[in-house]
Amino acid sequence: MGIYLDNSATSFPKPEKVYKAMDQFMRTNGASAGRGNYARARDSQELIYRARKGISKLLGAKKAGNIVITNNVTESLNVILKGFLNKGDTVLTSSIEHNAMWRPLHILQKERGVNIKTFSCTPQGDIDLEEIEEKLTNDVKLVTTIHGSNVIGNILPLKKITELAHEKHIPVLADAAQTAGVYPISIEDLGIDFLAFTGHKGLLGPMGTGGFFIRDGFELRTLKEGGTGTISTSVYQPESVPDRYETGTMNMSGIVGMLAATEFLEGIGIENIRNHEIMLTKQLLEGLVNIENINVYGPENPNERLGLVTFNIENTNPYEVAYWLDEQEQIMVRAGLHCSPQAHKVIGTLETGAIRASVGFFNTPEDIEIFLEWISK
Ligand code: ALA
Repeated sequence: MGIYLDNSATSFPKPEKVYKAMDQFMRTNGASAGRGNYARARDSQELIYRARKGISKLLGAKKAGNIVITNNVTESLNVILKGFLNKGDTVLTSSIEHNAMWRPLHILQKERGVNIKTFSCTPQGDIDLEEIEEKLTNDVKLVTTIHGSNVIGNILPLKKITELAHEKHIPVLADAAQTAGVYPISIEDLGIDFLAFTGHKGLLGPMGTGGFFIRDGFELRTLKEGGTGTISTSVYQPESVPDRYETGTMNMSGIVGMLAATEFLEGIGIENIRNHEIMLTKQLLEGLVNIENINVYGPENPNERLGLVTFNIENTNPYEVAYWLDEQEQIMVRAGLHCSPQAHKVIGTLETGAIRASVGFFNTPEDIEIFLEWISK
């Protein structure tokens, strides 16, 4: 099976119960939720509710009904940004956004004249709250920021950012693609207005699952309209959440997988997952900084970073290193720009790209040891 160190792209393997639940659903239920008055369709509806509930519990949201299920975090960000921002609005965002945020913002800039302001981040992953405070001017309609960088590995102080924005009555959206499931999040404690997540990374669910939290009181324009299985006589989308944003037959097998994953995560506890990843990240960092000619990017303290380390070997092409590791020992890491050219600009690797090793709950210290042995050859 090799050594899989690309968990920031997608986690692998998934908990055994995720595979089993999906297989069982496909074979023994297979009905579309909310679309038929028979037991299996009602069971599907119940499974969606349980998945919503499981996610809301893991992310610390009070009500399951505030969790909207989508196909991935990119879709979630598109729904929120395009549904919320109007002509000429200003947004404040970070300078290390993933393209999942950066591209929707730029099409909105082009088509609706949305003004994009950014706050800076150092190569070590530090941000300046005073700069954010200064940039929160009256024209800012939304603060939208990545929670943890998939390149630098830093974790942004979301609570403080939200407090600063709320002092000026500006709502906040966070992209929790890299943090949900591997870093403790409490939506209620953060007080955040929107939080977008994906199911297939830290949440340990299948690809094609994700969603977002939307606080009561916000109504977004819809990106898609169609059947919801509710108020079918109306020619318009329902106003109620989550139906308003969940149109068309849902990815039931994926949702069932996500439900099983939330149950697995609840059983283990996010704190324990976080501690396991910190331990492996510490081992990775300590090993890499002790190898000559290696430049490691991001925070020095493993407690202040996600379970990923981005680095380069001097005068060596990162793509070739990743290819070589796979060829030699089936060690899988990601090389390149990681869909985050903004973050690579900050660490100075936009031209070259970099290598990223990212750990998950199923990695062991032995995996890291073998990886470090090969990297030091
Ligand atoms: N953005 C994901 C990554 O960092 C896909 O690899």
